[in-house]
Amino acid sequence: MQQVANNTDGLDDAINTIRSHLNGRSIVLIGLMGAGKTTVGRRLASKLQLPFADADIEIETAAGQTIPEIFEAHGEQYFRDGERRVIGRLLHDGTRVLATGGGAYMNEATRKTIAENGISMWLKADFSVLMKRVRKRSNRPLLKNADPEAVMRNLIAERYPVYQNADIVVESREVPHDQIVGACIEALAQHLETPAATTP
Ligand code: S3P
Repeated sequence: MQQVANNTDGLDDAINTIRSHLNGRSIVLIGLMGAGKTTVGRRLASKLQLPFADADIEIETAAGQTIPEIFEAHGEQYFRDGERRVIGRLLHDGTRVLATGGGAYMNEATRKTIAENGISMWLKADFSVLMKRVRKRSNRPLLKNADPEAVMRNLIAERYPVYQNADIVVESREVPHDQIVGACIEALAQHLETPAATTP
């Protein structure tokens, strides 16, 4: 892949390491609702000069319905089937940064596809950070519930042990997004430089 140059943030070397070690794989962001996968993913893709895709948006486009509408009309299982198919398609379609919905990595087949075709990066955030962020929007069917805090606590308990299998973990804290993006770039470069991660 072509070299990049002239970033003002001193990340050129790390960016070039990532670009030259991906070998066709994608960078796949996983983590709970509110972890910042879409925002960080978009900026990360721009820094790495890679295309960006958001699995939730791709599912909505494929279905011609929003996620709340899909849940409402067809139920969660139907959404999960679409999610697995869409992520499978995107991961066989060239290198990109891919933000996945919070439940995607819980599917065993999806985890396998991600492991075979991507580098998984868990954006890990505390309960209070997640709640602060998800309160800003009402587009998440799982949280349309009398006690969204309890739902979030249960999801943390259920999903964090699985998210832990990601290749890389980056803390998603309440700092400017560019700082998180910088941490992602450094962690990715470090991971890809280790011998076991250099080839798919
Ligand atoms: C979900 C997370 C959402 C979306 C759907 C289900 C989940 O995506 O896929 O509402 O199961 O955690 P975000 O994590 O991008 O909010």
